[in-house]
Amino acid sequence: MKGNSYYSRRIHSLLGVIPLSMFIISHMLTNFSAVEGGAEGFKAAVKFINGLPIVLVLEIVGIWLPLLFHGIYGLYIAYQSNINTGQFQYGRNWAFALQRISGVITFIFVAWHVYQTRIQVLLGNISYGDLGATMNAIVTNNLYFFFYMIGVVASMFHFSNGMWAFLVSWGITVGPRAQRFSSYVWMIVFVIATGMFMASLLAFRGDEFKDASAAVETLRTLANIG
Ligand code: HEM
Repeated sequence: MKGNSYYSRRIHSLLGVIPLSMFIISHMLTNFSAVEGGAEGFKAAVKFINGLPIVLVLEIVGIWLPLLFHGIYGLYIAYQSNINTGQFQYGRNWAFALQRISGVITFIFVAWHVYQTRIQVLLGNISYGDLGATMNAIVTNNLYFFFYMIGVVASMFHFSNGMWAFLVSWGITVGPRAQRFSSYVWMIVFVIATGMFMASLLAFRGDEFKDASAAVETLRTLANIG
């Protein structure tokens, strides 16, 4: 049993980095095309990703299965661990607790976000080309905008702090100097990545996406599917 749990923890840890963290970076760049190129730029980025060969296989093997394993096993780890920050003396103990709390928030956020976007495409309610307009409809609702901001901060903390922990647990950053240096690097990554996702959320609130959103609403009403 102990051996099983050791390997499950290692797989959980590895999947957090390869491929999930890699996916997060690619997702951040796709979304950022909404800032750089507006509605057309975002459409082109989505088209490019979905034009890749065997994209569905890549998605299932590279995102869905690792996310399911890492997410569900992560909830189990978080549930099992004893979070009592009152006893903690060092920043790193707080980081340990926050890694678990941010994991739970990320789980809720990712599930809801996937339902609002990818699942809607899967159900045939929207097409890939409507994703910019769909995001506009979501983030122009102030409650959702707030929810998405919390989700972005929690998931980016989870990603950056998780990368710090990964480098320690796999014996890559060993001494205190290396770990301190790594803290600075991942803090900077946290700030940049959060900033880029926030900039995309703000871009999706823009009029350019709103126009597209109005067109989608009209089409939906005409087709009587909304
Ligand atoms: C979907 C919900 C998620 C949950 C519930 C979750 C939960 C957790 C938990 C509890 C840990 C700490 C494991 C430990 O210290 O032993 C962890 C580590 C980690 N997670 Fe997640 N996670 C989720 C999503 C993600 C995503 C989307 C990414 C990619 C950005 C990610 C990347 C990482 C990394 C890099 C680690 C560090 C691995 C290590 O300690 O070696 N996680 N996760």
